[in-house]
Formats: sequence, structure tokens, C-alpha cells
Amino acid sequence: MATPRAQWSGRLGFVLAAAGSAIGLGNLWKFPYITLENQGGAFVLVYLAAIAVVGAPIMAAEIILGRRSRRNPVGAFGLLSEGKPGGRAWKGVGYLGVVAGFVILSYYSMIAGWTIRYILLAFSGSLGELAHSPESLEAFFGSFLANPGAQVLFHTLFMGATVAVVFFGVGRGIERAAKLLMPILFVILMILAVYSITTPGFGRALSFLFRPNFADLSASSVLEALGHSFFTLSLGLGSMLTYGSYMRRRDSIPRSTLTICALDTLIAIMACLIMFSIIFSFDFEVSKSSTILFTTIPVIFFKLPGGAVICGLFYLLVSFAALSSTISILEVVASFAIDELGWHRRRAAVTTGVAIWLFGILSALSVGGVQTLSSFNPIGRPSTLGVFGTLDYLASNWFLPVGGLFIALFTGWILTREETRDELEEGNGRLGWSFGIWRFMLRFAAPAAVGAIIVSVLLGAEYQ
Ligand code: PHE
Repeated sequence: MATPRAQWSGRLGFVLAAAGSAIGLGNLWKFPYITLENQGGAFVLVYLAAIAVVGAPIMAAEIILGRRSRRNPVGAFGLLSEGKPGGRAWKGVGYLGVVAGFVILSYYSMIAGWTIRYILLAFSGSLGELAHSPESLEAFFGSFLANPGAQVLFHTLFMGATVAVVFFGVGRGIERAAKLLMPILFVILMILAVYSITTPGFGRALSFLFRPNFADLSASSVLEALGHSFFTLSLGLGSMLTYGSYMRRRDSIPRSTLTICALDTLIAIMACLIMFSIIFSFDFEVSKSSTILFTTIPVIFFKLPGGAVICGLFYLLVSFAALSSTISILEVVASFAIDELGWHRRRAAVTTGVAIWLFGILSALSVGGVQTLSSFNPIGRPSTLGVFGTLDYLASNWFLPVGGLFIALFTGWILTREETRDELEEGNGRLGWSFGIWRFMLRFAAPAAVGAIIVSVLLGAEYQ
């Protein structure tokens, strides 16, 4: 490589960029609805345990692989496996990550695009009229989804924004965007949180989230919590690995990992508190579905004073969070092209971005009702949503858990105890017993848990 690898300007830059990757649609769209579906309390507790036992240890592992190799996921596995059991076959894990990034970004950008539509609606005032009744908003959302032109348009806008950031590189693009977006996101979230405390449903929301009733917990809820802990922490495809490859040696991996996990969890819980306080304030009949963010939430916001502004802010928050995640996915694919194919960053950002955008049009059109694409169902899933549903199923149920499993196995069993200890202590100081706990989790607990997800998917359990 001609130029030395770019670096974050400091620990804050890394932590904000990585927290930006972790905090996204997973926290603000998916976690609230799966928590509702799984009856809160006990599910939340299992989710927290999954973050601590599986998520955090694997996140540290990814960052270790990145910082030690200073490469993209393919290069990292290639370099670190030299002379080790399995040798270059480990590069396959890196390739799996790059493919997963390509696939996930293609449809994530479409969903993120919906938030742009809602920002425009909220600030133009038309959302207020639509949100008079749940039926009219649902009808609007249905026709918006079924409009292929609109789907492609908003997907295009979101991919364009993502490419623009990655184009400018680690410092001037990604870090700068994170330092701008993340504080705004925290402020908006704080405003909404304070607002939700004043609503009558706040107490009920608290007890729904924090009073566990283990009778509500099924095996599939446990697996869903586990699977989600992967997605929400951006694990399994190499986003944290790639971001770790730009980390300075004098910054601490353990402390950064804990901060990122804590921020991600905090935001997911706050998102639930905000949405549930408002839902419970009105005894709203929630259609338990994945679309509450786009159908129920605005209706409720508009019942409150200042609804238009609050609602606009809210969608702005969601789209900022999604953007800082899409950047981290494109960076995996772009850094692969930069390191392995020798491309310049600008060419890599634009070319991979355009390829993913083109591929994403298939998802956009499949949601947009193009018959051959929306009935595409090669793996025979019941009620799948065509190309989009198939890709989402493959990526979140297969690619991420399998990628995460191999990352845990490689770091826990193939790298030596000394190699991983050195990397974790670098910039941190001596670790003592906490190193032993981390290594145990990585070698035993995480593979067992991820193995359970994989077996359950094989047996056909519904954890999506
Ligand atoms: N963590 C992101 C979210 O919660 C999604 C993501 C997954 C980002 C994998 C990068 C890698 O929305």
C-alpha cells in the first residue's frame, strides 16, 4: 500500500463512528416492534444478557482482528491466518462478510429511504392530515410501498448520501459525519425522552420493559433476542473489524467496546420508552407488526401538542441513525476494493456504491409490486416478501450469525492467548481476570449461543 492507512483522530472519533454503525434501524425500528411482539420484560432481560455474553465479546474480537491486521475483513483473515491451522481458508469468512455487507446494504438503504419520505411529509404538513386516522395512514403507507418509482427514488437518495460520505474517507468523511450526526441524534433523543416522561403512559412503559414475566418467554423469543444482538451491534460482517483497522494503537479496545455496547443498548431502551409511553398513553390498539414505525407512531404523535415538530424530529433522528449505519456497511465493501483490488478510495466508494444501488433496485421493485420480483421465493419461505424478504432472511439469519461464529472461533481458538491479550492490553493497561472471562465467553459461550441460533434456523424456528 502506497499511503499509510488512515486513522481516526482519537478515541472519540472511533467510538462515535462505531456507535453510529451500531445505532440504526435495528434500535429504532426493529427492537421496539420485536419487544412488543415478545411481551417486553423477560425478552428485554434476555436481550441484555445476549449483549453482555455474546455481543460484547465478539465486538472486541472483531476490533482486535481489524487493529492487528490493519486490513479489510478479507485481508485481515488472510494475514492473521498465515501459518495457523486452516490457513488461507479463513479468508472465506472475510468474503462472506463482504457479500453480506453488499446484500444487507442493498435493502437497508430502501427502508432507510422511507424515513426521508416521512421527514418530507412531516415538515410539509401533509403528515398531519394523513395521521388523523390509522386507516388513512396505513392506506398511504401501502400505496407508497406499492409505488415502484417512489421506492427506487428514495433508495437512490439514501445510497447517494452514503456514497458521498464514504467517498471522503475515514477522517474527512466517516469521522466527520459521525461527529456531526451522533450529537444531534443524542439531543433529539433527549428531547423526545423528556417529552415522553410527561405523558401518562410513561409508568406503564417502564413496567412493560422492566418487569419480567418469565411465563411470556418462549424458546423462539430467546433466539430472536440473540439474533438481534448481532444485528444491532453490527457484528458478523466486519463493520467493527474495518472500523477497528483505523484505530490508534494507544486507544483501549476493552473500554471502547464497553462504551459502544452501552450506547447502543441505551438508545434501544430509550427508543422503546419513547414509543411505548406514547402508545400506552392512548391505549392504542397496536397492530403488532413491523410497520408500527411508519403507521402507528405518527398517528399517536399527532394526538399530542406539537405533534408535527416532534414527528419531524423523530424521523430525522431515524434517518441520521440509519445513515451512520449504512456508511459502515459500505465501508466494508469499499475497503475490500481498496486493499485487495488496489483501487483508489473514490473509485472504490462510487463503484461499489453504484453496484449495491443497482442490486437494491431489485428489492425496491419487489416491494413496489413488480410481480416477478415480489413473488420470487426460491427457498420456499412462507409469506416472504419476494427478493427483499429472501435477502433479509438469508443475511440476518445466516450470514451474520455464521460470520460471527467464525469470528469467535478464529479469535478464541486460532489466535493465541498472548496475541489477543497483547492487543486488548495495548492502550489499556493490564487486564487481569477480566481477560479470562472474555476469552471464556469467546471460546465457549458465544459459539454455543450462535450455534443454537443456527440449529434453530435449520429446524425452521421462526426467530425473524
Ligand atoms: N447495527 C445496525 C442497526 O442496528 C445495522 C448493521 C448491521 C450495521 C450490520 C452494520 C453491520 O441498524
